[in-house]
Amino acid sequence: MPKITYVEHSGKEHVVEVASGLTVMEGARDNGIPGIDADCGGACACSTCHAYMDPDWVEKLPPVDAMEEDMLDFAYETKPGLSRLTCQIKVTDDLDGLIVKLPEKQI
Ligand code: FES
Repeated sequence: MPKITYVEHSGKEHVVEVASGLTVMEGARDNGIPGIDADCGGACACSTCHAYMDPDWVEKLPPVDAMEEDMLDFAYETKPGLSRLTCQIKVTDDLDGLIVKLPEKQI
């Protein structure tokens, strides 16, 4: 199963296994990782699953679509090129080792 490292804003790391087919958001939610609220449940309608991708991983992720781009405008302190909505990233075996940094807060 792919392992994903979620890094809290404080620097605390959580390394968890997330089944392929789930989203990066669901991996955080199902493992009780603080920092991802996911208020809309993954419908790309809230932006509270915002996180920063490790720069080494950006190119390996599926591209941002127009809907995600629009919702990212509502996220807290986005970083161009690194910010993603984690509910829009499906976990696959290729994402084994992904590192995701969580923002200071969700809005
Ligand atoms: S959970 Fe709401 S946009 Fe991702």
